[in-house]
Amino acid sequence: MYLTNAEEKMLAGEEGYALQKNMQILTALGDIFGADKMIPVSSVQVAGVSYYNLGDAGLEYLETLADQGAKARVKTTLNPAGMDLENWRELGIDEKFASKQKQLIDAFIRMGIIPSCTCTPYLVGNEPARGDHIAWSESSAVTYANSILGAMTNREGGPSALAAAVTGRTPSYGMHLQENRKPKVRVKIETKLTAVPEFGALGYFVGKKIGAKIPLFEGLEGTEVEPLKSLCASIATYGGTALFHLNDASYTANEAPGETLTVARSDIEGALRALNDEAAEVDFVALGCPHCTLDEIKTIADLLQDRKVTREFWICTARQTMEEAEKFGYVQKIRTAGAKFACDTCMAVAPLKGRFKVLATDSAKACYYGRGTNDFKTRIGTVEECVNAAVTGKWS
Ligand code: F3S
Repeated sequence: MYLTNAEEKMLAGEEGYALQKNMQILTALGDIFGADKMIPVSSVQVAGVSYYNLGDAGLEYLETLADQGAKARVKTTLNPAGMDLENWRELGIDEKFASKQKQLIDAFIRMGIIPSCTCTPYLVGNEPARGDHIAWSESSAVTYANSILGAMTNREGGPSALAAAVTGRTPSYGMHLQENRKPKVRVKIETKLTAVPEFGALGYFVGKKIGAKIPLFEGLEGTEVEPLKSLCASIATYGGTALFHLNDASYTANEAPGETLTVARSDIEGALRALNDEAAEVDFVALGCPHCTLDEIKTIADLLQDRKVTREFWICTARQTMEEAEKFGYVQKIRTAGAKFACDTCMAVAPLKGRFKVLATDSAKACYYGRGTNDFKTRIGTVEECVNAAVTGKWS
């Protein structure tokens, strides 16, 4: 791979251990994927932040990098951590876990990384422009950045994203090359999708059918952030693609994909059935996968007006979004009803195994991690159904 003089110096250790170590990671990655050069990145988002997933080995690695003077050269934000960094006691996190998680966050801060702890960096100030090369690692955010924002990123692992932050570079391969971004499957949507869980169900159905191939969606209505982030999360989770194209006629005119998949109402209903386990009672409700927007928080606040929840109910969101919601009185309404904010974290990366049995959510991705990581049964439905479940404890 061609390296500039500056990149050669980093690799040779002339700028210290941290830059050398991180450049070694990137050159090894570039060699594996046949990259011919490095490219500068303008934004990084690092996943692998929860002590639940990283453990002591991850903590030691990050502290060593911080001790050796590693510093982010470009705007870099973090994915959710294993707990709300302020309100962890209320969410049932123990002291030992909290102390380790704080050490991890401190190591990132020492490296100049913004502890935003959200999977929706594009809602809180880390929003790349169309055509920007970036290095993001949270799968839902990667798909959102490529498909909706028009930025260019591979799905980085935590260490390679961190290496991109520290060096300001990433190897040029995969989604950074236009020739790899063409759609491979035309997906014709023959039904109107309404609520957020239906967009998650679409991602589940299409992801299971076409895997990591890039789809070109036609006939998909509803271009608000909320349904799109849900679609991005589920298609990346159940299929693995880092990019889709939305109603882009230039491809059908010039480079129509050879393969076609149609999606009927029965496919969406089938996907929702597959995501719903048999369970009449619910003991945990979690919304905000990916993290809630201000509008979603408003909807929850309105639905909880003059009601009390009887089940553990988490609203997962970025701290910055919650602070916005506070100004409008939504947070106070939600807390008065007995629901809890889980900022900086989510239902998938917090240590929840064994605490609950049945999760109710509006997110297809949350079902995947609820089942896979935490052994929960899952119920998926609209935000109204989820709020009702939090109040009554029943799924109807
Ligand atoms: Fe975000 Fe956690 Fe879902 S990181 S996309 S809320 S699994």
